[in-house]
Amino acid sequence: GSTRFYDFKVQMLEVNKLCNTRNIVTINQMYPGPVVYAQEDDRVIVKLTNETPYNATIHWHGVRQILSCWSDGPSYITQCPVQSGQTFTYEFTLVKQKGTLFWHAHFSWLRATVYGALIIYPKTGVPYPFKYPYEEHTIILGEYWQQDLVQLETSVKASGGSAPIADAYTINGHPGPNYNCSANDVYKIDVVPGKTYMLRLIGALLNMESFFSIANHKLTIVEADGQYTKPFTTDRVMLGPGQTLNVLVTADQKIGRYSMAMGPYMSAQNALFQNITSIAYFQYLGATPNSVALPASLLPRFNDNLAVKTVMDGLKCLEMGQVPKEIDTNLFITIGINVNKCGSKTPKQNCQGVNGGVMAASMNNNSFIRPNVSILQAYYDHINAHFTEDFPGSPLKFYDFVNGAPNSAPNNTGSTNGTRTKVIEYGSRVQLILQDTGTVTTENHPIHLHGYSFYVVGYGSGNYNPQTASFNLVDPPYMNTIGVPVGGWAAIRFVADNPGVWFMHCHLEIHLTWGLSVALIVKNGQGPLETLPHPPADMPRC
Ligand code: C2O
Repeated sequence: GSTRFYDFKVQMLEVNKLCNTRNIVTINQMYPGPVVYAQEDDRVIVKLTNETPYNATIHWHGVRQILSCWSDGPSYITQCPVQSGQTFTYEFTLVKQKGTLFWHAHFSWLRATVYGALIIYPKTGVPYPFKYPYEEHTIILGEYWQQDLVQLETSVKASGGSAPIADAYTINGHPGPNYNCSANDVYKIDVVPGKTYMLRLIGALLNMESFFSIANHKLTIVEADGQYTKPFTTDRVMLGPGQTLNVLVTADQKIGRYSMAMGPYMSAQNALFQNITSIAYFQYLGATPNSVALPASLLPRFNDNLAVKTVMDGLKCLEMGQVPKEIDTNLFITIGINVNKCGSKTPKQNCQGVNGGVMAASMNNNSFIRPNVSILQAYYDHINAHFTEDFPGSPLKFYDFVNGAPNSAPNNTGSTNGTRTKVIEYGSRVQLILQDTGTVTTENHPIHLHGYSFYVVGYGSGNYNPQTASFNLVDPPYMNTIGVPVGGWAAIRFVADNPGVWFMHCHLEIHLTWGLSVALIVKNGQGPLETLPHPPADMPRC
């Protein structure tokens, strides 16, 4: 492969949106940020220079970072943030990776505006497994906030409460005509009648999941999370934050202007959200310029869990890979939202107990505490003071979880907290059963694993039951983010063949703030991370 160089400057940009002028954090004053183009097996080198007062890091979401964990990007997991005025160069090779991925900031809530597409073309001469479309377009679903995102996270943490809702949902940064002062702040694709288009859909959302559809048009999914799938045709898709889908759409309708719409998928019973859609235009050549867009009546209701399951059921891996048939490491991990007696990051005096207490989210009853140093660096330097290796392999205590209904909270549902990591032996074949629970609410959680893709070998509603669960070991989708069904479970498998410290977390940012994460340490042999190269010389300090 060749080498692709990019210069990323973290810079403030003044934007006019929703009747207000704000300064937002961006890369190179672009919103969404610059597209990184590459080909399979290329080396990518991105020099990040921080010209804002904020800390920043960039995560290359879905890039496996084979032997390059130092460039993965989650702050305080694999690196200290790049501080104001500092520079850090990310370097990695896209080993056997192609398709649509994306990059985003991984410090506080900055990724709300700091994101962009990462498009990896197949090697020269290697065809797509479908007829290559007439044109392709990137569609990034996002959320726009008028507040300062770092302050917002800080205040949410301090109050221990829920996240305020976004000011707008956006398509490629545009709220669209359903919002105030946004009649012209609309994204548009011009299409030629009869032609087929590939849309690279990216879920760069912060605190919500989203349906997407185009009025009167069918979408054929051909790729998910950068992996080809068997073609699956549907009226609408759902993307959680962290998920990407390539879909084909043919302009086979009457000449006109059609809505491309995104709208909330909110499976939590008491979630706050705006029941509004963000609209872009899918406009035929020859259509009356300012004609009214045909509405996207195909968007499901915000809580349509069945619509989500239908799309999920349609995802089958095209290239049958090496799904691990045998398992060496089997972990059962509950994912829970609860009202914590002693919230994970809140001063103890603020603990208010069940019903009126602080929110917490946990994996196996542990709310992850972000350390003040990089875990990878600490591990590499044999400093064991900043984290522990006692993340439990099963829940500390089961919640009283029943088929998705939030139950009357038992008296003590508190989670513990700590910077608990889980050591996984290099080379072992891993299965994780992710079980949604919750005493406040159950919810579809987009769980993302850094450093790997994994086979989604099974999922279902209710509690996981090894006797009745059915697994697909033939053509399961190969993904980096899995929406664990609301009140249900998902089983994922991968071979732990990439040493490093790998963050695994819910990609709903508010849940990450509440502690819904764990760091997996994949190590080789007796010593820590022996096969990992030395850290780059310009690695920032905390
Ligand atoms: Cu796309 Cu740790 O995130």
